[in-house]
Amino acid sequence: MASSTQKVLVFAGSAREASLNKQLAKLGAKRIEALGGEATFIDLKDYPCPLFDEDIETQGMPENVVKLREILAEHQGVLIASPEYNGFITPLLKNTLDWLSRPYQETPGLGLFAGKWAALVGASPGGLGGIRALPLGQQLLANLGLIVLPQPLSLPKAGSAFNDSGALNDAATGQKLDALCQRLVDVMANNHP
Ligand SMILES: Cc1cc2nc3c(=O)[nH]c(=O)nc-3n(C[C@H](O)[C@H](O)[C@H](O)COP(=O)(O)O)c2cc1C
Repeated sequence: MASSTQKVLVFAGSAREASLNKQLAKLGAKRIEALGGEATFIDLKDYPCPLFDEDIETQGMPENVVKLREILAEHQGVLIASPEYNGFITPLLKNTLDWLSRPYQETPGLGLFAGKWAALVGASPGGLGGIRALPLGQQLLANLGLIVLPQPLSLPKAGSAFNDSGALNDAATGQKLDALCQRLVDVMANNHP
């Protein structure tokens, strides 16, 4: 169990209202709380950011990027649930991470991510559960300087995976999600400065 509480920022790499990955992210946030951590779920649809363009950046950091940077700075870990688009992470996730990776005021490039922990999950209505994008997402997070937990969770057939209260119908998959959330809570509690 955790020996001190560290905060996990939880979000999905999909903006759509009925996103299966938002459902999975919300469930992950609940499980982190149940397992002794502290989690904040945010919906990236509430923070629309322009497609990254250095000309826009030169004019000033967009307001929603600044908001997201402030939120991320208050957390010591992230749990990201992302669909795969054509076997890759989504443009929303890549764009968000690119904006957050930029230097801003006193924070150097990648400075926001340094020393933070990351866990990745993915849901898809198809049979493969977005499994092709998970290692690519892990690689990107590692490139950004996050410490990425192994064994990301993929959730295939996600359209029928959740019950009415938002839990997973399949107990074994629920246990895998719990194991990942528990690892995140534990490493964050035991490996912070
Ligand atoms: C552009 C695009 C590409 C997609 N490519 C894949 C894919 O490679 N593998 C897959 O399992 N699903 C793919 N899908 C289907 C998504 O998994 C599905 O739309 C899913 O519900 C999106 O996640 P969300 O429910 O969190 O929005 C794709 C969807 C879109 C829009």
